[in-house]
Amino acid sequence: MPYIIVDNLVKKYGELTAVDHISFTVEKGEIFGLLGPNGAGKSTTLNVITTLTDFDKGEVIIDGMDIRRDKSSIKQLIGMVPQDIAIYDHLNAFENVKFFASLYGLRGNKLIQNSKEALEFVGLSDKMKLQPKKMSGGMKRRLNIACGIAHNPQLIVMDEPTVGVDTQSREHILNSIKLLRDRGATVIYTSHYMQEVEEICDRIAIIDKGKMIACGTEPELVSMVTDVMSVYVETKIPIGFDRDAFCRKIKLMPGIKGIKLEDSVIRVDISIDQNSIERIIQEVINYELPINNIKSEVPNLDTLFLTLTGRELR
Ligand SMILES: Nc1ncnc2c1ncn2[C@@H]1O[C@H](COP(=O)(O)OP(=O)(O)OP(=O)(O)O)[C@@H](O)[C@H]1O
Ligand SMILES: [Mg+2]
Repeated sequence: MPYIIVDNLVKKYGELTAVDHISFTVEKGEIFGLLGPNGAGKSTTLNVITTLTDFDKGEVIIDGMDIRRDKSSIKQLIGMVPQDIAIYDHLNAFENVKFFASLYGLRGNKLIQNSKEALEFVGLSDKMKLQPKKMSGGMKRRLNIACGIAHNPQLIVMDEPTVGVDTQSREHILNSIKLLRDRGATVIYTSHYMQEVEEICDRIAIIDKGKMIACGTEPELVSMVTDVMSVYVETKIPIGFDRDAFCRKIKLMPGIKGIKLEDSVIRVDISIDQNSIERIIQEVINYELPINNIKSEVPNLDTLFLTLTGRELR
């Protein structure tokens, strides 16, 4: 049984159906991404899962428990990192983390230890005494994360945790999320940045206007639009080179859809699920052709979103 089951979830705000029959499952120990543009229904879905919002129709099961019946037990499993930063300005970083962890029943040494570890985890251990009003946006984001994870929740729900942070903080946050997963947590993560979701998520649901438009691993999603990618090897083909023999050799490899040789570029179209890049490169080396550069052109989730909705993701 999957760790989380969301089945035909519907959430309305008056006339507006913010979440429109969304279904997905999340396995224990995976990073599951919800990707979608502004107003897609990401936060609303997360708010239902974290028991912050009620819903109109459907079923949500977490760790075998029904969210309608076992609300308080489910709450204990979850750490929430909200989209709108929720920290107290009059408390310093350490006091903020302690406060949120104490809400989950942590006391005494455990409370202090966990709070310190959470701050260390987000790279703020040297800012323990600092108040949020003196922090940069990126630091506040990181503190927001520390507050959500200090009680070591088995399910971590993060709503756009990287908005407004610089590249360095962003990388730090993304690496931390992977580390949390590697330590055994299950993570649900939302973003409208395709690259982030591609970088860290094991599986991805793409939602738009409240509806699920696709769900799967990145290669599965991309293969919904095309199953071909192109590899370009920049080289210098010498005069007298046996082009036919080389092309025949490449075409014998699994998943080769086509090959084109120009004087300085070899282009090979290959099927995505039969990734033969390594073998192609090996063959180029065997033929003693110089390799000046290697590029690949892979269709991505932006391509998928554009194909399915007719609009750009951003
Ligand atoms: N409390 C609310 N009352 C009324 N409408 C709401 C409320 N919260 C969200 N909505 C509406 O529901 C829809 C989905 O909003 P939601 O916040 O879930 O989107 P989102 O995918 O998280 O977007 P964003 O990327 O901007 O955070 C939007 O049209 C929004 O205006
Ligand atoms: Mg949102």
